[in-house]
Amino acid sequence: MEVLVLPTSADVARRAAEVVIDGLRAARRDEPVLGLATGSSPLGLYAELARAVASGRVDLRGACGFALDEYVGLPAGHPQSYREVLLREVCGPLGLSPGRLHVPDGSGHDEDELVAGAAEYERLIREAGGVDVQILGIGANGHIGFNEPGSALSSRTRVKRLSDRTRHDNARFFDGIDDVPTHCVTQGLRTVLDAGRLVLVASGPGKAEAVAAALEGPLSASCPASVLQWHADATAVLDEAAASMLRNRDYYDASAAGL
Ligand code: GLP
Repeated sequence: MEVLVLPTSADVARRAAEVVIDGLRAARRDEPVLGLATGSSPLGLYAELARAVASGRVDLRGACGFALDEYVGLPAGHPQSYREVLLREVCGPLGLSPGRLHVPDGSGHDEDELVAGAAEYERLIREAGGVDVQILGIGANGHIGFNEPGSALSSRTRVKRLSDRTRHDNARFFDGIDDVPTHCVTQGLRTVLDAGRLVLVASGPGKAEAVAAALEGPLSASCPASVLQWHADATAVLDEAAASMLRNRDYYDASAAGL
């Protein structure tokens, strides 16, 4: 695992974009597959990728995107559904065709429909040849995607209940807590681990505890982001505040300085 600590969140966005671009190039595929996270953490990274696309340095027209997760029960076109967020924040700016954006289906009317949709999502990822580079944020409770603490390390895409903490954290995107869905469909931790490269971005003091648990705590379902430790090509790109509780900081900085 590589841990890169940079002065500001703008530096994080720039550096993480380079790690993503490098990972897509290394995949050497005509139709690379990008794993997309929502939340505020990756927005700067998406803006940097958009800049790289606009300058002609990167061409993502052949790429396809797979979202990590989606809320259950939001009406089609709801501005906070992750499909809409990604159409707005990613597809347009990155030149990624909306037809190549895949998002878990949270519109099922009952459990059977949702379970069938989740299985279909796993099939689509396999059919696309797997995710080459997966972008990740981290929840303040250590979740990735919507894999809340207690999620099985071997989990696949499935329906999950959101924790109270996550619903409160995400209430800022809705009119109030009562409007935040109680359930989601999320890629599982095993699904995330199947990606060729993982790039986690985190900024701000509110993430410091989760980042320390994820990178230096035990590999544990109690901190779902700790599965990064299991992956052979995972990079965490952090600002100073998010890295402030790491104990092995000197080692990370020395490693980042290269040979
Ligand atoms: C959301 C998303 C996650 C995201 C996390 C952190 O609930 N499902 O994929 O990483 O919360 O969000 P933010 O980056 O806004 O802090």
